[in-house]
Amino acid sequence: MIDRPTIDRILDAAQIVDVIQEFVPLKKRGVNYLGLCPFHNEKTPSFTVSPTKEIFKCFGCGKSGNSVNFIMEHEHLNYPEALKYLAKKYNIELVEKERSPEEIEKQNERESLLVLTSYAARQFSENLFQSDEGMNVGLSYFRERGFRQTTLKKFDVGYSFEKRDAFTKKALEDGYRQDFLVKTGLTIQHEDRVFDRFSGRVMFPIHSLSGQVLGFGGRILKPDPKSAKYLNSPESEIYHKSKILYGIYQARKAIVQEDRCYLVEGYTDVMSLHEANIENVVASSGTSLTQEQVRLMKRFTQNITILYDGDAAGIKASIRGIDIVLEEGMNVRVVLLPDNEDPDSYSKKVSNEEFAAFIRDNETDFIRFKTKLLLEEANNDPIRKAGLIRDIVKSIAVIPEAITRTVYIKECSVVLEVTEPVLYHEVNKLRQQKSFQDRNSYPAREDLPVPPVEKIVRVKPETTTYYSEKEIIRLLLKYGSSELERRLRTEDGKEEILTVSDFIVNEITTDDLVFDDRIFSIIFAEFRFYSEQGMFPGDKHFVKHEDPDISRVSADLLADSHPLSKIWKTKQTYVETEEMKIKELVPDAVLKFKGDKIIEIRKEVMALLEEADKEGDKEKILALQKRFNNLNQALMSISRELGNRILI
Ligand code: CTP
Ligand code: MN
Repeated sequence: MIDRPTIDRILDAAQIVDVIQEFVPLKKRGVNYLGLCPFHNEKTPSFTVSPTKEIFKCFGCGKSGNSVNFIMEHEHLNYPEALKYLAKKYNIELVEKERSPEEIEKQNERESLLVLTSYAARQFSENLFQSDEGMNVGLSYFRERGFRQTTLKKFDVGYSFEKRDAFTKKALEDGYRQDFLVKTGLTIQHEDRVFDRFSGRVMFPIHSLSGQVLGFGGRILKPDPKSAKYLNSPESEIYHKSKILYGIYQARKAIVQEDRCYLVEGYTDVMSLHEANIENVVASSGTSLTQEQVRLMKRFTQNITILYDGDAAGIKASIRGIDIVLEEGMNVRVVLLPDNEDPDSYSKKVSNEEFAAFIRDNETDFIRFKTKLLLEEANNDPIRKAGLIRDIVKSIAVIPEAITRTVYIKECSVVLEVTEPVLYHEVNKLRQQKSFQDRNSYPAREDLPVPPVEKIVRVKPETTTYYSEKEIIRLLLKYGSSELERRLRTEDGKEEILTVSDFIVNEITTDDLVFDDRIFSIIFAEFRFYSEQGMFPGDKHFVKHEDPDISRVSADLLADSHPLSKIWKTKQTYVETEEMKIKELVPDAVLKFKGDKIIEIRKEVMALLEEADKEGDKEKILALQKRFNNLNQALMSISRELGNRILI
């Protein structure tokens, strides 16, 4: 726990413009500063920093806060971590509150492990630069590979002694706990014997975004068929391989400056590129890229260039992995290095200028690259060509932006000699299948709690609202779990995802609206029941409902035979699927439902008015007329809102 006066000193020292400028280039605009928002993708700046109010606010995505919030959000740190980050930046000594014995007991294991890994990194570095064995074996290895001293220091590399338990023994002597040594994976325990995981290896510490040591990679020095060339820390409380990009700590400023991130495979590739003056580079460390890693890069840039080793065998395997980058909406380019070269070897072979020129001249858009590669391979064999078209279509289908997909479809249509409508059809088919797959992954019906039997309040045979009720239920069934929007939860600065189902249930419940149709009324009640428990039953629940009327109606609504909404049907012929339009369709459907409800109520009021007129009850007439006018006004504002949206 950091005490209050320390927190105040940190907040006083952390000038918001200064803090943010480290990550976001800012320009002065009057009293404020303006930049491109780091939290969402934008082309014109709407991210504003006010040094006087000491806040930031993005008028595009709505994110806002003070400098600590910014660090929390940007660096994915929790509150104390963000404070510590700022304390370090401004050289403020941290005074931690006295802890009670229980608090000490409960002391965050994560922190203890981090203390240990940073100790280990120091030890390994001392070994490399200060011991005879380290200098003779480890340092000379790095020198032979041509690495400069400044690079070795920048990446904080080290050496682990050959003696099987040298590190573990030293750490235990220095008072580090054996269970933590084992948990970080630095030490391996076999019954009551302990030894070092990394003995006799050069060590590459793997840093978090904020420079903490999370784990290590250790490379063997001489080729040895009996042991792996690289060993890595095992998964632990602090080391999650899938979330880490090697070099991100040393690269992030350059990634923002260059607005591009190079992706390579290995530790030495990253280091060599730094020596070639390319600092915006990270490595996936030999594993296939994960969504978390992509999102990590995406926080700094939308543009990624993958450098491939010059052996064609590896490329085909990794090409599929790229879809995950496309899926995040990033712009992907690739560079294929000359035969038998990796970024490390090639950057050392040629001058920095030649290397930069090679990248510049060989950078190819990923879809184009893939198309060309597969096309060459298919060699005009029609069956293989069909397979390749499917493959390309798959990559295009995952791209979130419709416009980007359209551009690729146009281009591929020419290169592949397939007409655009055929490609659109295939892409849209895949996109639909994909959302279908997502829906299949909901809880099994037997795992769902049983909703209470709905007491139907009133059911009318012929209702004004039938079609708007039906549309709402259709949207619920088809897109209930889809994301409608993200909202910032201000207390903890976290994002909350609002689903279609959340939105509809909330709108209808708040206004106390009732479905007049019996089936729709039951389906809605069950949605509400699950939604309130944060669950989504999936369409299967309704398609397999024990009430046959419900299963029939649900199947009908899900069968896709329904004409797509007029709202967008008028605009384009075949380009888009309905799924892309849910952000407009859903609120419109709710508005339409509300409007129809008002029309229904207005009819009732009208009837009452006629009655009152006959009776000559002046007071009643006046009251009803007022009601009538209110309803009319509400209706008018709804049509205005709907009208505006339709006209756009
Ligand atoms: N790797 C690994 N385990 C292995 C081999 C490789 O974890 N047995 C990871 C390492 O992160 C390595 C990356 O995969 O950096 C790329 O492997 P490779 O191309 O074989 O190594 P290089 O980076 O070329 O390493 P070096 O130049 O030191 O041989
Ligand atoms: Mn290499």
